[in-house]
Parts: sequence; structure tokens; C-alpha cells
Amino acid sequence: MLLQFNNLTIRNATGEDADLLSSWWNDGKIMAHEGFPNGTGETAGEIAENLKKDTDENRRLIIELDKKPIGEMNYSRKNEDTVEIGIKICDFLEHNKEYGKILLSMLIFSLFKDMGYKKIILDTNANNKKAQHVYEELGFTKLRVRENSWKNQLGELQSTIDYEMYQKDFVNFAK
Ligand SMILES: CC(C)(COP(=O)(O)OP(=O)(O)OC[C@H]1O[C@@H](n2cnc3c(N)ncnc32)[C@H](O)[C@@H]1OP(=O)(O)O)[C@@H](O)C(=O)NCCC(=O)NCCS
Repeated sequence: MLLQFNNLTIRNATGEDADLLSSWWNDGKIMAHEGFPNGTGETAGEIAENLKKDTDENRRLIIELDKKPIGEMNYSRKNEDTVEIGIKICDFLEHNKEYGKILLSMLIFSLFKDMGYKKIILDTNANNKKAQHVYEELGFTKLRVRENSWKNQLGELQSTIDYEMYQKDFVNFAK
């Protein structure tokens, strides 16, 4: 996948990105919302090996701003109609500049138009109010709250919110 809009690019992650991904995934501040306040502990070598398993149905993606990596996205086919997505802008200096809405729009547009999916799903930590706001602006519908459904790395209970979106509800911020 290669998507471009103004100075933003979304491209496939490769083994050459493993050092950078490892630095992000071992940073507890970046990973806390995914349940890893101490980082995942994954080495660059392990990440590079895992990236080799990526296919067009299941990919890690790198976000670039003016050709500089600032974060990552991913998508994962669930079935013929449904795909799950994720986003993490890892450079905190680049938060709250509308990049999240634009990047999600770029990926969602491609998944609907180019790849033919009918439904996009994602979930987020119930504490992550900004992500919920952004998802709802894009047209996602809140399906359910799974209260205290899992524990983070420190054993603290966490709640998750599930979202879904069909093409008719999509508000595209990348145009
Ligand atoms: C969540 C994330 C993708 C959003 O991208 P972003 O570029 O920072 O956000 P944007 O600038 O596009 O949009 C931010 C919106 O949220 C609003 N917002 C900011 N903080 C908020 C908060 N604490 N609660 C509610 N809304 C908030 C802003 O006002 C803005 O909305 P508006 O345009 O209607 O005023 C990005 O911050 C990120 O990657 N965060 C870290 C990882 C993460 O949380 N990923 C999602 C996990 S499921």
C-alpha cells in the first residue's frame, strides 16, 4: 500500500523500519494506551521477522510527514467484508494537528474503494477520549463498551469500546 495526501504518506513497513518500531514499542509513554506502560520488550530482530509475515490482508504501515516517519497504522482482514484498523502517531509533537483524521481518512478510503471492504472496525481504550472523538467525527458508530474486559501489563483492569463503520457513514477529511 502507498497512499499520499499533501505532505502525508502511508506506506508498507519493512525490515528497515524495525529499529524505529522497536524504539517506539519499547517506549512506555507511546504504548500505555495499548496496555504496555513498560513497552512490549520486542527487539528489532523479532519485529523484522514478524514483518516478513505481512501480506496484503494484514499489514503494518508507516506514517511519514514530509518523508519523516512519525507513527504507524495497520489493517487486518477479518473476513471478506470486514477489516480492522489501528493508528498510532508516535511523535507527540505531531498530535492535534488534524493528521489523525486525515490519515485515517486516507486509509479508510482505500480500504473501501481499492480493496472493496464493506465494514471497518476498530476498538479503543475507554480512557482514550480523543481517539473516540476522532472516530465519531469520521463516522464510526459506537457498538459497545466492554467494561473491565482486560488487564494491562501492570495488572490494572481496562475497558474497551468497539466501533464499526460502513461506507455510507464515512466522513472523508482527506479531500
Ligand atoms: C488518536 C490520534 C490518532 C488522533 O490524531 P490527532 O492527529 O492527534 O488528532 P486530530 O488533530 O486529527 O483530531 C483531534 C480531535 O480530538 C479533539 N480532542 C483532543 N483532545 C481531546 C480529548 N482529550 N477529548 C476529546 N477530544 C479531544 C480535538 O479537539 C480534535 O477535534 P476537533 O477537530 O473536532 O476539534 C493520535 O492522537 C494518536 O495517534 N494518539 C496516540 C495513539 C492513540 O491513541 N491511537 C488510537 C488508539 S485506538
